[in-house]
Amino acid sequence: MNDPKEFLEKATRFLQQQREMYGDFSVHVEEKHETESEQVQEPNTSYKSESQDHQQPEVSEEKKAEVEVRKSPAELIEECSTLEELRALCEEAEELKTDLEGTNLVFGVGNPNADLMIVGEAPGYNEDQQGEPFVGQAGQLLDKIMAAIKFKRSDIYIANILKHRPPDNRDPEPEERQRSLPYLLKQIELIDPKLILCVGRISATTLLDKETSLGNLRGTFHEFHGRELMVTYHPAALLYNQKYKRPTWEDVQLLRKRYDELGGQP
Ligand code: URA
Repeated sequence: MNDPKEFLEKATRFLQQQREMYGDFSVHVEEKHETESEQVQEPNTSYKSESQDHQQPEVSEEKKAEVEVRKSPAELIEECSTLEELRALCEEAEELKTDLEGTNLVFGVGNPNADLMIVGEAPGYNEDQQGEPFVGQAGQLLDKIMAAIKFKRSDIYIANILKHRPPDNRDPEPEERQRSLPYLLKQIELIDPKLILCVGRISATTLLDKETSLGNLRGTFHEFHGRELMVTYHPAALLYNQKYKRPTWEDVQLLRKRYDELGGQP
């Protein structure tokens, strides 16, 4: 680097970053630069010697906590080894929020060791109020569909792509889905189900990372991170249009059959 002024600015920035991370050094970093002639003669006076560098400055608990806070969402997610830890992380995660203020976390519900996991789209009003997915009208229909293939709600695990309610029950934006996805993927990893049922196009296209119609995705099993994933209509769609009932019935029967073949419990 030929420009001494540029060198000194870079060195000062470096030391300021170090000070933010480790606290004050035993040396003093000037906030203001000295005259240009002084900079040229002594560009490096605020560095410690090489041997000093080997002595790690003592890091206070407070500073350690600050460094902890700076971990990326991916690192924090990676560190979770239980659903409880993941839930606690989700409680604090700003990136899970939508532009509707004051919503509650709707993390997921059910058997933490479930062999079947159902993934919906996003919480609605009732889900936000109760902090539980699929508790409104669509949820009651989902319970009936599951009962028809001999699952109790407590046998399975239910979650959504989004963990907070979007305003006016609008479709989650692609960017919102991508922000929430790493948390859901970790949730799936921790529950470790044999089968996943995506209800609705938003859930299916987000997990399968394919922009296509629900009609193109349903009726078959897809490979998903070493598991099998089936897609069917969202129960809310069935509430409005009878024509989706038969294909949904066919899908869930296939699902039950595969669950039994794979030795799903209970
Ligand atoms: N619709 C969803 O997709 N999820 C819910 O939790 C409720 C309605």
